[in-house]
Amino acid sequence: MSVKIAPSILAANFTKLADEIQKLEKAGVDLLHLDIMDGHFVPNITFGFPVIEALRPLTKLPLDAHLMIENADRFLEEFKRVGCDWLSVHVEACPHLNRTLNRIKELGMRAGIAINPGTSLSALDGALEDADYVLIMSVNPGYGGQKFLPSALNRVRELKKMIGKGKTEIQIDGGIKEKNAGEVLSAGANILVVGTGLMGTPDYAKTVKALRQAGKS
Ligand code: DX5
Ligand code: ZN
Repeated sequence: MSVKIAPSILAANFTKLADEIQKLEKAGVDLLHLDIMDGHFVPNITFGFPVIEALRPLTKLPLDAHLMIENADRFLEEFKRVGCDWLSVHVEACPHLNRTLNRIKELGMRAGIAINPGTSLSALDGALEDADYVLIMSVNPGYGGQKFLPSALNRVRELKKMIGKGKTEIQIDGGIKEKNAGEVLSAGANILVVGTGLMGTPDYAKTVKALRQAGKS
């Protein structure tokens, strides 16, 4: 499966969001990852609908919203309205996971399941077939710039086995940098969410290229 680079704009300079997005686009990224936090499911609050709506006309890149929120079902239509293309919900926060995933797809978005480092992959049983992608958290969600948890590598390998010949993609999120991108891709992930590991580097294009190539060496 083709490697996709999904910068988390949480690490961008928010006073220059339009410039940042242009720089990321020029650097050849594939998606923009939007970390939506509600202060309940995670101990932090980020941004919501008005910000997404404002950045939608700035780019043609797909907007990939990672919902770290409770009661996601209540807001699916609104995320579609403001321009999201991909939506992932946390297995820990969604009691009717198949229904939620199918609703996301009915609305015309790609549907993903996000899973915390401490949650058994067996929580995906019965829902995997309904997901376009699974987001393996490689940090506990809530903040950018945290350290990669190496246990995520085995979880990616295990998930890859569970998916077998299926088409579900594997996204990984948290602490991804040039130095660990290779092992993450070899383990079976194909979508790299990168915040500080990209926006903390001086040359976005060079870093994106290195991240993309990392799985090949
Ligand atoms: C954490 C978020 C991540 C995070 C990534 O809760 O889901 O997307 O912002 O940032 P880095 O790459 O800096 O760990
Ligand atoms: Zn995220």
